[in-house]
Amino acid sequence: MTTLAPTEFTSLIQAAIATAKHAYVPYSNYQVGAALRALDGSVYTGCNVENAAYPSCICAERTALVKAVSEGHRQFDVIAVVTRNGGSPCGTCRQMLFEFAPDLQVIIADLEGQVHAQHALHELLLLGFGPSKLG
Ligand code: THU
Repeated sequence: MTTLAPTEFTSLIQAAIATAKHAYVPYSNYQVGAALRALDGSVYTGCNVENAAYPSCICAERTALVKAVSEGHRQFDVIAVVTRNGGSPCGTCRQMLFEFAPDLQVIIADLEGQVHAQHALHELLLLGFGPSKLG
């Protein structure tokens, strides 16, 4: 698992907290922020963006992921996810992240920067289905 320097650890969580402030959440009022680090060290942030047609909402983690992939990144080592109460990534986000980074380190924290949990993605999505299964 990636070992982050304490300053990198903190700055990733702070980046997630900063982007959570941009969350568009008129329906749930539940802000989520994510900061995803690519292997070259660049960081992509994302917040959740809700919609009056509820299923059209996108989660913070997937916002960050699609921003990064659309900028040419496909390898990632760490993601920080923040909510007011240490909520963890949903199944859809776990699956989409698993496509690119089964060993991704997932830091789950709150909006005060308190860390609630830290796991490898493959632990959060046991026996996850990935590209290797399709040959
Ligand atoms: N949400 C995320 O952004 N990420 C997750 O992994 C879980 C849920 C968002 C979706 C919705 O805007 C709000 O949190 C409540 O479900």
